[in-house]
Amino acid sequence: MSMNTKIIDCKTHIDEEGLKKCGELLRHGEIGIFPTETVYGIGANALNETAASDIFRAKGRANDNPLIIHIANFDMLKDLVEEPSEMEQKLIDAFFPGPFTLILRKKKNVPSIVTAGLDTVGIRMPENEIARKLIEYANCPICAPSANISSRPSGTKLEDIEEEFDGKVAFMIDGGMTTIGVESTVCKVINGIPTILRPGKITPQDIEAVVGTCKLDSHIFKCATGKVESPGMKYKHYAPNTKALMVYSENEEQMIELVKEHLTENTAIIGFAEHKKYFPNHQFYVYGHINHLDEVMHNIFTLLRQVDHVQADFIIIEGVKKEGLGIAIMNRLIRSVSYNYIEK
Ligand code: TXA
Ligand code: MG
Repeated sequence: MSMNTKIIDCKTHIDEEGLKKCGELLRHGEIGIFPTETVYGIGANALNETAASDIFRAKGRANDNPLIIHIANFDMLKDLVEEPSEMEQKLIDAFFPGPFTLILRKKKNVPSIVTAGLDTVGIRMPENEIARKLIEYANCPICAPSANISSRPSGTKLEDIEEEFDGKVAFMIDGGMTTIGVESTVCKVINGIPTILRPGKITPQDIEAVVGTCKLDSHIFKCATGKVESPGMKYKHYAPNTKALMVYSENEEQMIELVKEHLTENTAIIGFAEHKKYFPNHQFYVYGHINHLDEVMHNIFTLLRQVDHVQADFIIIEGVKKEGLGIAIMNRLIRSVSYNYIEK
């Protein structure tokens, strides 16, 4: 089914009337695209089963992969989940609003299509003003996965995803490029230990600072099959259409050598600004500066899409250290190259 997709421009200032309309559309069962501080989301009224199922259809998403629910205030939380434990409450106090999703025990009124039949639900309170206002205008919780066709890189600016969803959603809100650039940290308290199921801007150290402990799920850098805590980890993800390889060495010179070893005539490289000069005869896409992993995080998804539009037959991506923000970056990059990864 094709519909007329309304575009709402909130790039330089918020179009309140436009947002209000979008809120009403969501409330009445339409789906639409909106920015958050992490990536763009494709949202629906979380309490409306038909609307939620439209999202799975629009994305081509497997129906065993649950959606997270976005809220604008703490009143919305009470109707969705059972009373959080003391540790869960500390995490909520510390990281809501923000790039953080907490998995909690769901109440009955959350439709099982949203949680893919699980008895838990992921909850996030975005900080982005457009997202918050949209949810407030909708006056209902909004389930929203990242706005990308399944397996494609997540959208960090509307231009990157417009084509994928034109005619499939009631509206798209343009809020410019998202500030963070990768999806929220997904965390679940398992046997009293906060466990990161998907790494993001909120790092294990950030969580440790609040509750004293934190661990990473064992699938963060590995290919997951069968039963896993977070179903999303099983699926192919973030892939550009061109074949790609990632290389990493803690030793910078060695990393540059690794890139050189695997170059073909028509390779595009994604890497550090400081390394561009070593590859004058190749298309080199800068994702940021060494020691500025926030830049890398911000740019990585849009670059993975950009390289598809150039005439390259191979992509080499420089890896980063798996520490701090580097954990989330490497989790995405390893998947984007389909585990085609060399570390020396
Ligand atoms: O930053 C974000 O989180 C973005 C923006 C739009 O908010 N949303 C997003 O949603 O990334 P999505 O659906 O693309 O990713 C949600 C992840 C998936 O990996 C899913 O498997 C996992 O969270 N997840 C959702 N509910 C879960 C649950 N009850 N238990 C375990 N994992 C869950
Ligand atoms: Mg996603």
